[in-house]
Amino acid sequence: MNKINKLSTTDILVAPSILAADFANLGAEIANSQKANSDMIHLDVMDGHFVPNLTMGPALVSAIRSYSTLLFDAHLMISNPLKYINEFVKAGADHITFHVECDNDINEVIAEIKKHNISAGISLKPDTDVEEIIPYLKDLDLVLIMTVEPGFGGQSFMHDQVAKIERLKEEIAKLDHDVYIQVDGGIDAETAKIVAKAGATVMVAGTSVYRNELGMTQAVAEIKNALN
Ligand code: DX5
Ligand code: ZN
Repeated sequence: MNKINKLSTTDILVAPSILAADFANLGAEIANSQKANSDMIHLDVMDGHFVPNLTMGPALVSAIRSYSTLLFDAHLMISNPLKYINEFVKAGADHITFHVECDNDINEVIAEIKKHNISAGISLKPDTDVEEIIPYLKDLDLVLIMTVEPGFGGQSFMHDQVAKIERLKEEIAKLDHDVYIQVDGGIDAETAKIVAKAGATVMVAGTSVYRNELGMTQAVAEIKNALN
């Protein structure tokens, strides 16, 4: 069974994005986010080509793997995901999400991820029509709706992306399996309420979790409370 299928499909799950963590203390930051009741660790991989920023590669993922038993959720913001899936799986990724706007054949990328017996997700940029994802839903475990332009942490939540969640939920209901709806960008206790109401259950949060003055445990708890 894929690691993601052991997680609830109805509870709100929190996936701290380590992009907002202290890179000089990544091991401890990841261990702390597990102690704070997070559900997975979100790894933002950027290639300086698909998005105008460079972040981490398989060597870093491998170096931090032993600091948490949580699911490692790799978000590949790269032009050629096909080339690197094997490397990220070897490094310890338990789930891989790539972008529908990438240069590869989408079905080929999904097949390559599934070949490694891990779960597969597709993401889309704010300007991309959600209808582009629908044909692939039957083969996916997760869809990631970007609620900021991918590339950097700390941006403001884009309210105009919420309708995509509702549309996806409608299509997922027609399938014979569940697909997690994940959101990423500007998520905090307040915006989590908006996306949870629309049907998203997996909340990626960087700044609001790692840089919260109330501490990580409280930050995670507040996001998890989004439906109450
Ligand atoms: C943006 C990344 C996000 C981002 C989230 O390209 O995919 O994961 O770091 O950070 P916050 O929560 O700070 O918007
Ligand atoms: Zn991300």
